Amino acid sequence: MSSRPVKAMLACQQSRFALPDGLHYLNCAYMAPLALAVRAAGIEGLDRRATPHLIGPADFFEESDLVRCLFSRLVNAPDPNRIAIIPSVSYGLATVARNAPADRGDNIVIVEEQFPSNVYTWRRLCAERGLELKVVPAPVYTDAGRAVAWNARLLAALDHRTAVVALPRVHWADGTLFDLERVGERARECDALLVVDGTQSVGALPFDVQRVRPDALVCAAYKWLLGPYSTGLAYYGPAFDHGTPIEENWITRSGSEAFAELVRYRDEYQPAAVRFDVGERSNFTLLPMLAAALELVLEWTAPAIQEYCSALTTDLTHTLRERGYWIEEDRWRGKHLFGIRVRDSVDTARLAERLKERQVVVSLRGDAIRVAPHLHNDSADTEVLLDALD
Ligand SMILES: Cc1ncc(COP(=O)(O)O)c(C=O)c1O
Repeated sequence: MSSRPVKAMLACQQSRFALPDGLHYLNCAYMAPLALAVRAAGIEGLDRRATPHLIGPADFFEESDLVRCLFSRLVNAPDPNRIAIIPSVSYGLATVARNAPADRGDNIVIVEEQFPSNVYTWRRLCAERGLELKVVPAPVYTDAGRAVAWNARLLAALDHRTAVVALPRVHWADGTLFDLERVGERARECDALLVVDGTQSVGALPFDVQRVRPDALVCAAYKWLLGPYSTGLAYYGPAFDHGTPIEENWITRSGSEAFAELVRYRDEYQPAAVRFDVGERSNFTLLPMLAAALELVLEWTAPAIQEYCSALTTDLTHTLRERGYWIEEDRWRGKHLFGIRVRDSVDTARLAERLKERQVVVSLRGDAIRVAPHLHNDSADTEVLLDALD
């Protein structure tokens, strides 16, 4: 099917990815396709690893520092040393839980149906320390302005016993936006930590650490950061400056650059959040891929990616609403990630079959179809989806 050009600042970037012809991959919230540049960086990294005499001590540090710099630019964090290299969201949140100042009777606030890594961490902390886990329920989706009511409930849940509020910017299942600036203000009034899971937003939606002022921002890299699996990045604010890492590794100690001196054991860590890096963080294949991915996101920019996704899906969402599907109001949902709620009469098994027949890849999450486009998509993809939903 020939596609109409998307009217946006950026043109479709399909040629920079390696997806097969005829596939309509609208599932970046599941896993981003690897861009050609990211794949090439991985292959080059693997080749370098085959010849270890070419890997010098500086290589253990420079690539990591580059990645910290690129990510700090993306989220407008002034000090790259506030960025830690982590393998997963669960790891980055375990660091937060390890250092959260919470005592018996305090509470942790989350919203309903968050991604499990941002739930189990808090369930365990609550069990270990005698805390209450407050889960803010989602209003029914037939209400007009569901997200407005959900945000209001969220704000009302924070009180002076709240130790941590741990939230995403967009809900991973349906793209509902949470007003993190407002929640951050309330969290500061309550002396609570604001902890953000940016996995489903950072890279595709602008995020400014200096405006939101989170205490921690944790992101897996394999979705909207376009990076490889098993990598992630986390910003930790001053509340964690004297924190204890969940593991002790050599490279996070001060002076680790001097390989000949490593057995002069040191008590001090590297500055700021570098102490929270995962062991063997200097992965010679994955970090070059992550750097290449972040460079692409910075080249394209999150606002332009968001605008592209908006332009690409405007007709789709209008038409679907006319056909009786429910989609959150535009200003209260991500344009790069949103849920289409199907009517009760729709046979979801049959729908899944139709999508498969037409090679449309989206995710079915509960009663919602999660659509998550990126710059590799064009209007042929949204037209085929629309046809499958007819
Ligand atoms: C919102 C969100 N957070 C985190 C993750 C991944 O968590 P982890 O890195 O702990 O596997 C996902 C994966 O789908 C997600 O959607």
